[in-house]
Amino acid sequence: MAFPQTRMRRLRRTAGLRSLVREERLDPSSLVLPLFVAEGISAPEPVGSMPGVARHPVAGAVQEAREAAELGIGGVILFGVPAARDAEGSGAWAPDGIVQQALGEIAAAGTGLVLIADTCLCEYTDHGHCGPIVDGDVDNDATLELLQKQVVAHAKAGADMVAPSGMMDGMVAAIREALDDEGFTGVPIMSYAAKYASGFYGPFREAAESTPKFGDRRAYQMDPANADEAIREVELDVDEGADIVMVKPAGPYLDIIHRVKTTFGLPTAAYQVSGEFAMIEAAAAKGWIDRERVIRESLTAIKRAGADIIISYFTKEFADKL
Ligand code: PBG
Repeated sequence: MAFPQTRMRRLRRTAGLRSLVREERLDPSSLVLPLFVAEGISAPEPVGSMPGVARHPVAGAVQEAREAAELGIGGVILFGVPAARDAEGSGAWAPDGIVQQALGEIAAAGTGLVLIADTCLCEYTDHGHCGPIVDGDVDNDATLELLQKQVVAHAKAGADMVAPSGMMDGMVAAIREALDDEGFTGVPIMSYAAKYASGFYGPFREAAESTPKFGDRRAYQMDPANADEAIREVELDVDEGADIVMVKPAGPYLDIIHRVKTTFGLPTAAYQVSGEFAMIEAAAAKGWIDRERVIRESLTAIKRAGADIIISYFTKEFADKL
């Protein structure tokens, strides 16, 4: 009789055994909560395509950050929704810009959270692109100069870390130089190094009111078909001084997370984006999936692929209940 001697099922028989041999564990301290801060509102504004997510006034963002800190969450990443926009996106670096206000107030609250500022112009430009438009295209080098102003404003306002997400060539080097020139040599850069032109950002653009008014972002974000190119993108950002590299989206790009982590061995972040969140919420609302189970599974898979840090809209709930 050729019955198996090795039985993988032996270690799956009880919850105790499964727990003993579990390879990955999610810790709230490695999770980052995205926060939308909007100018000119006094109460949270729910985002239709993101159940449970809202745009907050500054005071609300401070409250969210306090709760996040109590739950042991690692950090928050701030996105601004300004009251007015212009061609260059000047609200991005205005000393009283909405994210600068929120950074100042949250920093003053002394939560111990890592305060991360998303560095990009799309939320601040009236056309919704990630930099100023010249001849119908985002001007790379003009954008770099504006991003330099934006990171300095973030750092002055109290950001612990900046996270450039615009996929401009040379953005990490430009930002590093600007921070260093202003004495912020200790402020790390978490670069959205491999950011794909993804359909999964739809709900975010509703939340941040940052949908491009014409065209799309394929001329600067990556083609979903490419993996070798992601390694090249990350390598450039590392050479330019990135401290943490990010892959975005997360769930559909687990192969990229894995390659980035194994190739560079750097602290690696992954962003479980708005569309990943919305799909889970929508299927759960229909009763088609077990919501909590799928939240846990999706986050565990991202961790298992190699992410050290996960940015997720499920962060608070995970830390609180799961
Ligand atoms: C800004 C930015 C975007 C996201 C994070 N930073 C939108 C975009 O590139 O259009 C998307 C995050 C999400 O979908 O949750 N450039």
